[in-house]
Amino acid sequence: MKTVKSEHLNALCDLILLVFSKKALKRVVLSKPDALDEIKSVITPKEISGKSALQKETFSRDNKAYHFNLRENFESELLELVSGYSQINVITTAGDAQYMRARSGKESILGVGKIKSNLENGSHETVTAEKNNKKKSYILSGDEDFLKKLGVSDENGRVRDKMQSKFRQINKFIEHIESIRDKLPSESINIYDLCCGKSYLSFAVYHYFKNVLKMDVNMICVDLKKDVIEYCSETSARLGFDGMELVCADINAYEMKLKPHLVISLHACDIATDIVLNKASQNGADVILSTPCCHHELNHTLNCKTLDFVARHSMLRQKMCDALTDSLRLMKLESEGYSVLALELIDPEDTPKNILLRAIKKKNPNPEECQKLKEEYEKTYSFLLGR
Ligand SMILES: C[S@@+](CC[C@H](N)C(=O)[O-])C[C@H]1O[C@@H](n2cnc3c(N)ncnc32)[C@H](O)[C@@H]1O
Repeated sequence: MKTVKSEHLNALCDLILLVFSKKALKRVVLSKPDALDEIKSVITPKEISGKSALQKETFSRDNKAYHFNLRENFESELLELVSGYSQINVITTAGDAQYMRARSGKESILGVGKIKSNLENGSHETVTAEKNNKKKSYILSGDEDFLKKLGVSDENGRVRDKMQSKFRQINKFIEHIESIRDKLPSESINIYDLCCGKSYLSFAVYHYFKNVLKMDVNMICVDLKKDVIEYCSETSARLGFDGMELVCADINAYEMKLKPHLVISLHACDIATDIVLNKASQNGADVILSTPCCHHELNHTLNCKTLDFVARHSMLRQKMCDALTDSLRLMKLESEGYSVLALELIDPEDTPKNILLRAIKKKNPNPEECQKLKEEYEKTYSFLLGR
């Protein structure tokens, strides 16, 4: 076994073992590997044959995932498992810690103290380790014809390196759709993808409903970019994706001709996400799934003395405005009769734009409650704008 000499890595391993023993460990994400054939690895707590274990899942550039289980000798073997990465994030229910190794070799580690103090206070939730026999099944394998035609994977069905992140995003997005299937019709469905861009997600969602679930699908994808819409229309015709229509239009002016069951949107820029959400809600969509992109509007208009202590730090101001914007969006949808949730689309390491706003139309929303929420929304907005 290799001997790894790093004070910081040793401290990180001690932390991992501590949070693991307290059942507070969610996962350890090992990024920027030294090994060229690896994309990243993730260590998660598992239950294997009734015993607590750690499992390292390594994602390689040949689109495979390799597993290594650590069932004993945790102290001696963990150090080797986490060495060889320039960034390691330890995600726990008591807070997060980050290890960094600069090009110069200089190491740093942040967040350990906070986690330890939260553990001491007992202010953390318990994580239930997943049983190891739970098989991870991705809905798309990479071998699908449409993914090859779109250039996401090569002729052998191997996802191209530069498309790995997009591939994971669309797979995850479909997993989120799968989790709310019971809120959607089971035979014939109308879906809108607003701000579809190159429509990777639209093709994947169409494929999922049409070819996997064998449903009748009307899929309408709208974007401003004429050339992209033309290209996607041709691709859709070549694939024989009947019922898929690509429309070149500004979503602001676009009128939905079918009642939307599902409205999806991935990374619609800035206020385009607000237009998507408004359009979907006004047309009574049953389910809205939207991953916002950049947020600028509130960052420019924020005028709130109470929040000045955050807003004066530009990095934190942006993060706060992102969170406030998404929370306001959810509040508005809630006031319009939706049950709402903010979820994580994918690992933050894949894209920082990984919040998924989920809204499901309530069967009988309470009008008084909605009115109260509407007033609360307007009051909060005015408060943030200093009105
Ligand atoms: C970052 S891209 C995302 C594209 C695609 N959903 C994806 O994830 O690959 C944002 C897209 O939103 C489109 N867009 C922005 N504002 C729009 C509007 N008002 N109407 C229609 N499309 C809009 C842009 O043309 C662009 O293609």
